[in-house]
Amino acid sequence: MRHSPLSDSSTQASARRPSIAAWVPPRLHPWILALVTALAANSAATAAEARLDEVSNFALLDQRGHMQELHRLPGEVVVLFFTANECPVARQCAPKLRELQTRWGSKGVGVYLVNASPADDRRSITKEAYELGIWHLPILKDETQGVARHLGVKRTGETIVIRTRDWSVIYRGAIDDQWVEGAAKPAPTERYLDSALESFFAQRPIATPRTTAHGCVIHFEGGNGPDSTPVDYVKEVVPLLTAKCVSCHSPGNVGPWAMTSYRKVKGMASMIEEVLLTHRMPPWDADPHLGKFSNDSSLTVAEAQTLLRWVNQGAPRGEGADPLESLHVPVPPEWPLGTPDIVLKLPATQKIPATGVLDYRHIKVYAGNSNAGWVGATYVKPGNRKVVHHIIGRIKEGGQKDHLGENEMFVGWAPGSTQAPFPKGAGKFLPKNAKFDLEIHYTTCGSEQTDDSEIGLYLLKERPTHRYESVPVVNYQFELPPGDAAKDIEGFHCFPKDAVLHAVTPHMHLRGRWMKFDILRPDGHRETVASIPRYDFNWQHSYVLAQPTPIKAGTWVQLTGGFDNSARNPANPDPQKTVHWGEQSWDEMFLGWYQVTWALPPETPGAGGTGGAP
Ligand code: HEC
Repeated sequence: MRHSPLSDSSTQASARRPSIAAWVPPRLHPWILALVTALAANSAATAAEARLDEVSNFALLDQRGHMQELHRLPGEVVVLFFTANECPVARQCAPKLRELQTRWGSKGVGVYLVNASPADDRRSITKEAYELGIWHLPILKDETQGVARHLGVKRTGETIVIRTRDWSVIYRGAIDDQWVEGAAKPAPTERYLDSALESFFAQRPIATPRTTAHGCVIHFEGGNGPDSTPVDYVKEVVPLLTAKCVSCHSPGNVGPWAMTSYRKVKGMASMIEEVLLTHRMPPWDADPHLGKFSNDSSLTVAEAQTLLRWVNQGAPRGEGADPLESLHVPVPPEWPLGTPDIVLKLPATQKIPATGVLDYRHIKVYAGNSNAGWVGATYVKPGNRKVVHHIIGRIKEGGQKDHLGENEMFVGWAPGSTQAPFPKGAGKFLPKNAKFDLEIHYTTCGSEQTDDSEIGLYLLKERPTHRYESVPVVNYQFELPPGDAAKDIEGFHCFPKDAVLHAVTPHMHLRGRWMKFDILRPDGHRETVASIPRYDFNWQHSYVLAQPTPIKAGTWVQLTGGFDNSARNPANPDPQKTVHWGEQSWDEMFLGWYQVTWALPPETPGAGGTGGAP
């Protein structure tokens, strides 16, 4: 999806295109005829319009921390205006953009600013937006400059008008002819953008689909275009791939393709650009501006920039032997946390059919422990990563209950889960002869598969001082109307006793869009622990706080989140349906776990086989 220059001539070109219907031979099979006729009708309709380049998808955070993904923006037309703080032309355009949104908003036009200036951050952008009276307009921060680079934008003031029907550009250039660098007319004589929108909504061809934008030159890190500093494949690209991608993208690991040579990576270069610009890879969904996490696997801005620049330069090979060809990625040991004390094994190999949607399986598994004890770590070893979607283990009787009265989630795994020992000195109680209910969600992959997943339990040798618990915060009472793209929901929980918060884990299903974890401190202070602006059902991450934070008894936590039940949500199984809480992935859940430790009373029975319930 490399940028190709906008073809101004496309209107004429498609108008000249001979009608397809003209060469349909007689006595064609009727459905082919119907198809060809439909195509011809379609081509005649689009020929009248100026169909310029299609803009491929991207996702950027705005000044409020909301993820704005181009191909999911609502309305009929998206106006992107490239801006930078303190740029005179961009500042002068602010009232025009505000007016534009007021005039055209109700007709289905959305105005979005994009700031690709390396000098500006969220704070300074918010400040200037206040000053200019445009705080209500989303200002997307193009931190890596990848979007500006991809779209070939060189100056602020450049406006790109995109129709959402097919994401093609219907106008590109200046808002009007009032400003050029260092000079201005008292009033514009040509209002290009307004005229383009008027023509578009009147279904007339756009008279001037392209003009030259005048504004401040955007400084691109590492240069832009053919004169830019070449990125070195061996010295810069490979170390980065090795550190951030290869653990999954290697033979035998979860990534769908292996980064085993320059040729392989080069072949995927455009796809790499796409997954970086849409924030799909590496899989990590937290807003980097809120909270620090010890298991953060994202790329830094500089790293993403290096990869994007390399792709933009045509993914040059450079000098030196290809380190990827000789790279040996150790297959992780069977049990990375060491040999478990207890292994929960499925009683029988699970058979997974080639296709279809499967119900959750609930499988009874006995731990076989003759004494009660405390567990200090669990490790899920999915037997077949092609089909295991998630595994949740709960103790049926004699284990801990959570505050909702349910058997506490003892162990949980989904792709992207971090599997580390519980915080030091903390454990989960394992009753004697523990009976587990393992909920396993299998997804089909096109061929028949089998699975023998296992779960390792690690007993604590010493008596824990704390209990580790995943405290669920839920809201069951929601209804997602069909087609609703932005249904926001919240849930609350008051902590009954002092705790220390170690991690949070969002959980929604396919319509889940975003989630935010807040602590409402007793002094009235609100603290955002983690914000997940682009929730991805495929990656059920826990966000482990780099600095665990105490929560005093009586503290409320607030969970907020949003669902997208519209057709623009590509994962939506059925946008026609009203959706409520339910187990299956085509139902929804609104659930966030706060993973905490509680101090155990001193009289708590010991660990290592002698303990009873706390
Ligand atoms: C935790 C494992 C993991 C890591 C780390 C990871 N990937 Fe992926 N990647 C996957 C999986 C699984 C898929 C396929 C499913 C999906 O798209 O979510 C994928 C898909 C992709 C695709 C798209 C393939 C397609 O056709 O849809 C690209 C490109 C890609 N990854 C590049 C990268 C790059 C570049 C990095 C490092 C910066 C990276 N990945 C890091 C697991 C990973």
